[in-house]
Amino acid sequence: MGATILAIESSCDETSAAILSNGKLLNNIIATQSIHEIYGGVVPELASREHQKNIVWVVEEAVKSANIELTDLDAIAFTKGPGLLGSLLVGTSFAKGLALALDIPLIGVDHMRAHIATHFIEDPMPKYPFLCLTVSGGHTQIVKIEEGFSTTILGQTMDDALGEAFDKCAKLMGLPYPGGPHIDKYAALGDKEAFQFPKTMMEGYNYSFSGIKTAFMNFLNKEKMKNPDFVMGNLNDLCASLQNHFILMVTEKLVKAALDLDIKSIAIAGGVAANKGLRNYLTELAEIYNWDLFIPEFQYCTDNADMIAVAGKILYDKKPI
Ligand code: KG4
Ligand code: ZN
Repeated sequence: MGATILAIESSCDETSAAILSNGKLLNNIIATQSIHEIYGGVVPELASREHQKNIVWVVEEAVKSANIELTDLDAIAFTKGPGLLGSLLVGTSFAKGLALALDIPLIGVDHMRAHIATHFIEDPMPKYPFLCLTVSGGHTQIVKIEEGFSTTILGQTMDDALGEAFDKCAKLMGLPYPGGPHIDKYAALGDKEAFQFPKTMMEGYNYSFSGIKTAFMNFLNKEKMKNPDFVMGNLNDLCASLQNHFILMVTEKLVKAALDLDIKSIAIAGGVAANKGLRNYLTELAEIYNWDLFIPEFQYCTDNADMIAVAGKILYDKKPI
């Protein structure tokens, strides 16, 4: 219970550090990399360089604002993957070097399990077993979580992740990176029935989103031939229809899994869990199916070190190293 853990997250384009002490999270320092905006997507080499620039001050700030000394640390948790290799290497090497210097244990944390661990940051916490729809820029998974935080992936995307599909479709409409939050914003002002898009059928609880992106691109190209201002003239309706399409696709499999397994404790996690349309629709589904629904606070949806700290603490308590 009393351990003090430093957590480091550097899997993509956020350098983040946090301190968890006596079971409480003391902070969540995040350096976001805006450099990728001009390229319309994360450039791995630039991401690694930004992590190199930020990691020292981000960790120093986490330690300082927690009012502790480095020597108070009992362990260091870090994201071991999945993620961009160069970015992961920065966090991993830094964590290893510091753990070696302080002679304390290292805890390698799986990034996707950490997104789910967000639900153990504060009450109310889900009871086992529960299902989590983990939707981020790199992954889309339906995960079953059982006693002791044991996780089984029931289904996942076979190609693009949901966040990636949001971002790629946003780019086709000329919106800045990351496009997911922009689509979310314009969708709130549009008619979700205005345009229809094709659905991809996958086996079991698996997903595919890349076909929709291609269909969306072809649709836009066709309409732009007739009217060059088509996108700007219909931006709200396009965003609302596309977002609604994604939401229906992603939740259909979640409902199926919940009914098949007779599980009524349902959670969402990952960057796309910040999507207001998805949060609202899940709330409606929870009423229909009588779910206990767990939606993370906005600040815990996208990548952050608090989730690494909580997942790290679960491992630390399981196997004191
Ligand atoms: O979990 P995350 O921060 O990073 C990964 O682990 O990938 O997720 C980032 C993804 C991006 O694709 C971003 O566009 C998406 O989450 N995202 C959203 C929203 N906020 C972030 N997608 C849709 N609506 C949002 N409000
Ligand atoms: Zn993530």
